[in-house]
Amino acid sequence: GLKKKEVNVLCLGLDNSGKTTIINQLKPSNTQTQDIVPTIGFNIEKFKSSSLSFTVFDMSGQSRYRNLWEHYYKESHAIIFVIDSGDKLRMVVAKEELDTLLNHQDIRSRRMPVLFFANKSDLRESMSSVKVSQLLCLENIKDKPWHICSSDAVKGDGLQEGVDWLQGTIL
Ligand code: GTP
Ligand code: MG
Repeated sequence: GLKKKEVNVLCLGLDNSGKTTIINQLKPSNTQTQDIVPTIGFNIEKFKSSSLSFTVFDMSGQSRYRNLWEHYYKESHAIIFVIDSGDKLRMVVAKEELDTLLNHQDIRSRRMPVLFFANKSDLRESMSSVKVSQLLCLENIKDKPWHICSSDAVKGDGLQEGVDWLQGTIL
């Protein structure tokens, strides 16, 4: 059959936002793990969509590991940025990390699709994806295609919409 195009995706966001849970759901079921633990450093994972073969760098969001993120910017074709939409207290920290990312010399003014997951939509106190996009000022992103999906990574809700958008947006 046709060889799928290989793309590198960087999965970023604060610790406990649900990055590893999301990536685990996207993997083939026979390679999914049951117990997800906080990521140390990063893990490399693979999954496929109908036309793309994704290699994902699932980075740790813990503050002591966030300095690793920038080493992978150059080789990445797209970013998945995960937000815990129930974590109102740390939304400002998530915004700071996002702004630092978008202003980095290896990211700025590149046409690099950014997919946001407003994750943990199942939590009763969670904010809507519209609210999250307002708090993160996503409308200010002019140099990149971006999209936000609300998701429940435990159930898997909203994830396919995001992957479909990435597949349609990565050139
Ligand atoms: P680091 O690796 O430390 O950066 O964290 P992470 O972003 O990879 O988070 P992880 O996937 O380890 O999830 C953290 C916790 O949130 C786990 O207990 C998950 O089960 C839980 N979790 C992830 N997604 C959801 C969700 O959509 N809803 C709820 N209720 N819990 C979630
Ligand atoms: Mg993780």
